[in-house]
Amino acid sequence: MKTSALSVLGRRTGPPPISWLMQTALSRPKLISLAAGFTDSPTLPIDISRGVLNRILRSPKTGRPALQYGITTGETNLRRLTARHLQKLDAAGVTSQSHSWKQVMITGGSQQLLYMALEALCDEGDLVLVEDPTYFVFLSILQSRGIRARGVRLERDGPDLAHLETVLQRLKKSGELPRLKAFYLISYFQNPTGVTTRFEKKRGILKLLKQFERAAGHPIYLMEDAAYRELRFNGPDIPSALMVPGGAGRVIYTGTYSKPYAPGTRVGFGLLPEPLFTSVQRIKGNHDFGTANLLQQLLAGVLETGLYDRHVAKIERRYGRKARVMKQALTKHFPPNVEIWESGGGLYFWARLPRNISTGVKSKVFQAALKNNVLYVPGELCYADDPARRKPDHEMRISFGSASEENIREGIKRLGAVLRKFLL
Ligand SMILES: Cc1ncc(COP(=O)(O)O)c(C=O)c1O
Repeated sequence: MKTSALSVLGRRTGPPPISWLMQTALSRPKLISLAAGFTDSPTLPIDISRGVLNRILRSPKTGRPALQYGITTGETNLRRLTARHLQKLDAAGVTSQSHSWKQVMITGGSQQLLYMALEALCDEGDLVLVEDPTYFVFLSILQSRGIRARGVRLERDGPDLAHLETVLQRLKKSGELPRLKAFYLISYFQNPTGVTTRFEKKRGILKLLKQFERAAGHPIYLMEDAAYRELRFNGPDIPSALMVPGGAGRVIYTGTYSKPYAPGTRVGFGLLPEPLFTSVQRIKGNHDFGTANLLQQLLAGVLETGLYDRHVAKIERRYGRKARVMKQALTKHFPPNVEIWESGGGLYFWARLPRNISTGVKSKVFQAALKNNVLYVPGELCYADDPARRKPDHEMRISFGSASEENIREGIKRLGAVLRKFLL
């Protein structure tokens, strides 16, 4: 048979690199994976969740609604609690602007919101700016939907604003600016580099995007992905871009309860300006007409009892400790000519080898690491296909999220031994 029944999108969508990495990890029982973005299993909140679920399911009055379909935009109580929670995080903000719960949408993980926001904004061939490097699953969505990406150089305190301006100028000159819809920014403890964007830079990004809106002919949104915001073990929190005066109309803020509470719940949320809120609400109506109600009730329960805050404080200490263990191991075992980007939160360290040493899936370093039973995420997977530059392939993302302290020490020792062979 010559033709395929699959749609253009069905045929175009490539295999997600994450599946291959996970499969590799699972098929080798002795392998230590420093690749997965999984959270720390031993601290997952089993007791808290059991208690809250028991309370919900004890009486028909609370149990039945939790087991029934809900509302597309999410359970009202959870939307209110989420707005209040975000308000508390942003309290150190520069203005007294408040977040309205009516702008909050509850989604199936923040991943669903990222997908739906792109559905609402982008047609095939449209453009999105991303940090260089960025979250590889986001790149997979772009690939699948035929959306083009342009990378903006990343510095230790956020995107390089001068480079952002150059990229925008270039798009204006080539007549492609009308295709540009958004800048996707992972603003806290970024995946994969651990970088947190300074508030002043968020202000700068919004100002630049605004400057180019006239030439674009429409708003250019800032998609602020704050997935790791609450996994913070060092330094103060930074207000979101929603707190930039005038920013709220242009910021799509996405957050999640996966990382700070439990990925198994896959409850995410977002704050969206109009007309996006309505558009995404309709799209979600077609996707699933509402996130799992029982899980929303669980999250509402842990938020309103204060159990959530206590849990987050506990895991922040836990990740802080694991990050210190990894740092010590890196100092001890990695060659000195590997540059390490350390973070005050999140799950990742970013290691940069000399430029001439490849870390890609087919590289000698990656194959030797596999042979030594240790896995990392090759940096090249985190770079968009951008015709303006060659994809760097000399970096690696190493995670301290799911591995035990013992495995972090052993994994870094194995990886260090591999690197010493190639670098010294
Ligand atoms: C940067 C980033 N954004 C979003 C997500 C999606 O998380 P979830 O759908 O569980 O909220 C992840 C997951 O790893 C992530 O790393």
